[in-house]
Amino acid sequence: MLQSRFTRSRLLNQVLATTTLLAFIYFSLNNLLPAIRYNVVPHRHPILLDNAQSKARPGNNTSSPTVHLVIASTKADDTSWTSRLTIPNLTILRYISDDPSAPFHPPKPKGHEALIYFTYLHDFYDSLPDLTLFIHASETPWHVEGTLLRNTTFALSQLNLHKVLQQRHYFNLRVTWRAGCPAWIDTTKTHSDFDEAEEPFMAEAWRANFGVDEPVPDTLGGPCCSQFAVTREAIRRRPREQYRFSRDWIVDSTWSDAILGRVCEHMWPRLFTDEASDCGYAERGSLCQMYGVCFESEGELEGYKELWEERERLKERMSFLRAVWDAKKAAGAKGRFGEVNDEIERQLSVAWRRGHA
Ligand SMILES: *[C@@H]1O[C@H](CO)[C@@H](O)[C@H](O)[C@H]1NC(C)=O
Ligand SMILES: *[C@@H]1O[C@H](CO)[C@@H](O)[C@H](O)[C@H]1NC(C)=O
Ligand SMILES: *[C@@H]1O[C@H](CO)[C@@H](O)[C@H](O)[C@H]1NC(C)=O
Ligand SMILES: *[C@@H]1O[C@H](CO)[C@@H](O)[C@H](O)[C@H]1NC(C)=O
Repeated sequence: MLQSRFTRSRLLNQVLATTTLLAFIYFSLNNLLPAIRYNVVPHRHPILLDNAQSKARPGNNTSSPTVHLVIASTKADDTSWTSRLTIPNLTILRYISDDPSAPFHPPKPKGHEALIYFTYLHDFYDSLPDLTLFIHASETPWHVEGTLLRNTTFALSQLNLHKVLQQRHYFNLRVTWRAGCPAWIDTTKTHSDFDEAEEPFMAEAWRANFGVDEPVPDTLGGPCCSQFAVTREAIRRRPREQYRFSRDWIVDSTWSDAILGRVCEHMWPRLFTDEASDCGYAERGSLCQMYGVCFESEGELEGYKELWEERERLKERMSFLRAVWDAKKAAGAKGRFGEVNDEIERQLSVAWRRGHA
């Protein structure tokens, strides 16, 4: 009795082991190996229009403006990509939020990029270049549009600095509004009724930083994300004390970093321009005027953006885990990815050539 139960369970174990092994072999052949092989073969790199770079700027204009690139970073960030920027007369100032021994750092690791920007604006007020670019540490943040290849190197190398100097004075590097215009933030919202987390804080922040002479607008708007170019003159519209005050206001605040970063994001236009909001320019016009990427119609621009979104969805589908799960589908996605990339490249080249005709 005992003996036979033992034999049966040993048999069962053997059957189980064999089944598991077979299942594993099956899985390996069908999913794991293709997924590994497929991930070893690199995905084709996104198009770069590298050759576009050198021709982008009004190159033979010998009077290039002087430029500071202020990078808001933490110790962990890799900002080495900025050394490949070819903007003439560029000085890179990397601020490191959590390293008090870094040459450039804010008084405290606080308030996201906002405290860094105010620290720079105060400290360099008397020695500003013609133009300062304020950016985050990542080369490929989602803040940069697909029309600019979601690539800050590409965006900055296409940006027409002369037009910032002569026409815009303050220019948000992002030109897409999405929900940002005409009214993104409702400053009349309260802590018991709001859509955006910073809304109930906005009016108080505004009054604290701008005082009674500049009443709080009911709504604020603009493209998001706190990456922008601004001229010396635009910065000096306000006295140095303004930037010291705002810097110290952040240092002393009890609000969270996220709230501080967001309320400041909505104050940049008012600091540097006559307007409280930054909704006076349409996306397609700005893209053409400032970056030389000129889509012929709104429809053409929308078509491009849809392609870019498809590209993002395909990229997700091509991840290793997804490929292990369903190798065939991932391979299909990869095929389509190539087509979409080609079409993006084609459409963007046409738009770029139109902007440089
Ligand atoms: C730039 O070069 C073009 C052609 O070589 C010339 O016609 C133009 O005057 C130049 N512009 C400046 C600002 O030097
Ligand atoms: C050359 O640069 C100067 C100084 O920024 C500017 O005033 C001028 O308009 C530029 N010329 C061209 C042809 O871009
Ligand atoms: C800016 O760069 C131009 C050449 O690109 C150079 O002629 C000029 O002297 C530079 N100006 C400064 C202030 O470095
Ligand atoms: C961003 O664009 C630049 C120039 O267009 C290119 O050299 C670089 O490899 C790109 N970076 C990424 C992460 O795609």
